[in-house]
Parts: sequence; C-alpha cells; structure tokens
Amino acid sequence: METIKPSQNSPIGIFDSGLGGLTVLKSLEKILPNESFLYFGDTAHVPYGTKSAETVIRYSQHIMDFFQKHETKAVVIACNTASAVAYQQLQQIYKIPLFDVVTPSVEYSINITKSKNVGVVGTFSTIQSNAYTKMFKKLGSGCFVKEVPCPLFVPIIEEGWADTAIAKNIAETYLKEFQDCNIDTLILGCTHYPIMANTIQDVLSKHIELIYSGKTVGIKLKEYLKNQNCENSSNTSQSVKYYVTDFPQKFDELGSRFLGRQLNNVTHIPIV
Ligand code: DGL
Repeated sequence: METIKPSQNSPIGIFDSGLGGLTVLKSLEKILPNESFLYFGDTAHVPYGTKSAETVIRYSQHIMDFFQKHETKAVVIACNTASAVAYQQLQQIYKIPLFDVVTPSVEYSINITKSKNVGVVGTFSTIQSNAYTKMFKKLGSGCFVKEVPCPLFVPIIEEGWADTAIAKNIAETYLKEFQDCNIDTLILGCTHYPIMANTIQDVLSKHIELIYSGKTVGIKLKEYLKNQNCENSSNTSQSVKYYVTDFPQKFDELGSRFLGRQLNNVTHIPIV
C-alpha cells in the first residue's frame, strides 16, 4: 500500500504490547530530540510473545486505528513480536509510514558482522516466526543466523532481577546455544532485553556486539524524516503522551524501570 506524505509537525506513534517499548522510546527521544511522540502500550493484553500471530495482528490493528485517528506522521512498531508477525499485514492495510524493528536491526547487523554469523534472541513467538532469518535471506546477506527463544527473560526483567545471579544463570543456560556458532553480533530481539544487557554481555565473549532495536530503528526513522523533508520544524519542546489499555500492578515501577523516569500524562484507553 502506498503511504501518505506525512505532515511535518505531527507526532510519531510508537506501540508495544505493554511498557517494554519504553526502551525504544528512550532511544528515539535521544536520536530525534525535536520530535514528539504518542506511546501506546497494550497493557491489557501483554504479553504478545506467547500469543498466536492472528491475535497479535488483531490487537495491532486496533492500535493502528488509534494512530490513524490521531494522524501520527509515522508509526514505529517497538514490539519485536508484533514486528515479526504483524508488520506485513499492517503495511497492506494502513497508509501511515510504518517502521518495524526487525528490518533495521538486520540491516545494521549485516553492515557490522565480520564473521557473518549472527545471533538473535527474542520471545517464543518472534523466534518461531523466523522473521529475522527470513529478513537476512531477503537482503541477500549470506549470513548464518542462529535464533534462540529466551522466554524467561521478560518475567525476570519485570521482577527487577535483571542483574542478579538468577538472571545470569538463566542467561548462561539459554546463550550456551551460541557457543559453537562463532557469532560476533547478537540482536536483542525483544523490547525488554536492553535492561538485561549487562548480564547478557557478561556471559558472552566480550567481542560479541549487542544490537539494540531502539537505536537501529531510530537511525532509520531519522533518515526517512530527513529525506521526506518531514522533520519537526516547530519550536515547541519534545512532548510525549502515553496511552495504555490497563493500569496493571507495578505499572509505575515498571514504567520508570524501562524509561528511566516516571511516566506522566498517561491516558487509559478502554479496550474495544
Ligand atoms: N514487547 C514484546 C517483544 O518485544 C515483549 C513482551 C511481550 O511478550 O509482550 O517481543
């Protein structure tokens, strides 16, 4: 579907299954300091990582309808699971310029890997979709790609245990799979994993570079806005509005853990 020409001073939409996507927002705020954002966290339906593609696509469509109504100039699918299983369908339905997090991390990794062996970690649904491997192939990278699901990372991080011995133990168990693959690049294919980056790096060989989707999609979005002459030109300072479908327990705690500051300006959007 052809995308519409975005309007310069409109906000950028970002969505995730919940609050994990705030790690992506944090990167985008840094890379695009003049832009404003609408963050949508589907906190009533989190996690997406254990759900079927059909369900994740349906939830994502509701969120895209919301952004369409709010006339955002672009939408970033911060959620790796939604990027992996829903991006293509959403692209066919909506005219808003849409950015997934799989493509930019794959492009970035192709540029930096020397061994041409790349690892990917993510939720069960993301890894099962094979979206990363398919994208490496589609781009003709010639890379060997090893994908490993790490479903326990999300609950560990939400529990606040990202830097504990338990986290290290579990990381060692999952990441053992990469032992004989000679990878030099590991894509953190889940919104939550940047919070656990120190532990992950600790158990891996030091030369393995971790790839953060907030950074890779941020670089791509910045380029796009520049090429389209669509960078925000107003003098107002950066603003962020948050929309969530539920206020679950630990909402404030989780929000500030992912964003590094408290969430203000939060509106509850009842589920349709
Ligand atoms: N946001 C999800 C992702 O990046 C992780 C949490 C979930 O399973 O919903 O895949």
